[in-house]
Amino acid sequence: MKALCWHGIGDVRIDNVPDPKIENPRDAVIKVTSTAICGSDLHLLDGYMPTMESGDILGHEFMGEVVETGSAVSNLKKGDRILVPFNMACGSCFFCQKTLYSCCDESNRKPEYATKMMGHAPAGLFGYSHLTGGYSGGQAEYVRVPFADFGAFKVPDSLTDEKALFLTDIFPTGYMAAENCDIEPGDTVAVWGCGPVGLFAQKSAWILGAGRVIGIDWVPERLAMAEKHCKSEVIDFSKVETSVYETLQEMTKGRGPDRCIDAVGAEAHGAGSTDAVLDRVKAFLYLGTDRPHVLREAIMCCRKGGTISIPGVYVGMLDKIPMGAAMNKGLTFKMGQTHTHRYVEPLMKKIEAAEIDPSFLITHRLPLAEAPWAYKTFRDKKDACVKVVLRP
Ligand SMILES: NC(=O)c1ccc[n+]([C@@H]2O[C@H](COP(=O)([O-])OP(=O)(O)OC[C@H]3O[C@@H](n4cnc5c(N)ncnc54)[C@H](O)[C@@H]3O)[C@@H](O)[C@H]2O)c1
Ligand SMILES: [Zn+2]
Ligand SMILES: [Zn+2]
Repeated sequence: MKALCWHGIGDVRIDNVPDPKIENPRDAVIKVTSTAICGSDLHLLDGYMPTMESGDILGHEFMGEVVETGSAVSNLKKGDRILVPFNMACGSCFFCQKTLYSCCDESNRKPEYATKMMGHAPAGLFGYSHLTGGYSGGQAEYVRVPFADFGAFKVPDSLTDEKALFLTDIFPTGYMAAENCDIEPGDTVAVWGCGPVGLFAQKSAWILGAGRVIGIDWVPERLAMAEKHCKSEVIDFSKVETSVYETLQEMTKGRGPDRCIDAVGAEAHGAGSTDAVLDRVKAFLYLGTDRPHVLREAIMCCRKGGTISIPGVYVGMLDKIPMGAAMNKGLTFKMGQTHTHRYVEPLMKKIEAAEIDPSFLITHRLPLAEAPWAYKTFRDKKDACVKVVLRP
């Protein structure tokens, strides 16, 4: 079959690879009908995520049709149309019982890497390095789905692929980011990043009772989407007269936003700020693992007693985080890989009820063969690219 494979920093290609097979009784193999490129994939393309190997198949946002099931999978049959959360969960371990699915203790088959780096290993992920199990991803014609008896959700015929696909990751991720804010009615929620995750976080903030939502970015078409589709006020951080901090304080009469969401993560741009330049140099020289400019800024901007929610992915040891400010202002931090399985069904109901149509952010619909071009176009924010859906 054909699949999108990683071969090094900035180098992804379509290769011919062996078809996936059932390896465990709880597996299914699906024929992929739609798959998306995620901001998280850019951390792989840009070399921020360690333990990638040449030939690894990428892709963790995908859906398709069941072609084969293992002997323990009784809830699925050939031909079922399903979507699959980006993280794998066994459904029964200590963490799964607490619905902390992204912390599943059974699905990461190579926990030794992450345990060394993080103390404990997170769940297995599709197509996301050997730190998270070294599983093949779904930017391919076919993909093996481990734990398919728990981690496959049937999609009703009334929902097109484009409406359902983002339930695999970015819609639940934006939603959990907003939920993690513990929004009180009328709160002002500031969201750094108007990429797919930031846009869904903004939409979700309204759903959860925000009184005001502010989106921050510098890419014009993304800011325009935040205004048009999320009804957010926006700040272009490359054009502010003073700073994002001053602008947010002015907008909130000196108090600061109640809730701050970092939907940018490890590869923040800094519009020339000193800390961001230093981050870039350190990352370039392999002296730093992340560029946490946004996290620093959010901590400084947030009102006293407020919440910082971090859906943005960080990788390693972060530098110069103003913990003094966070501690003395009494901030609450919540973060994590999304517990996707928790959100698929409730959010699917919202889509079915036409409360939200997640397909609003798709700008590019392409065959899988165009994936190498699409990765670079999405990374460089060229061609007004916000979200790519590939059709294998
Ligand atoms: N927690 C999870 O489970 C989970 C799931 C999916 C994605 N993510 C992460 O969420 C983040 C966003 O994903 P995405 O798909 O929206 O990515 P994306 O790259 O499309 O969007 C990131 C946006 O941040 C903007 N940005 C950069 N520097 C900024 C700054 N200083 N201030 C404000 N905005 C800035 C960029 O211009 C871009 O529009 C990534 O780190 C991704 O890995 C996490
Ligand atoms: Zn993703
Ligand atoms: Zn589990």
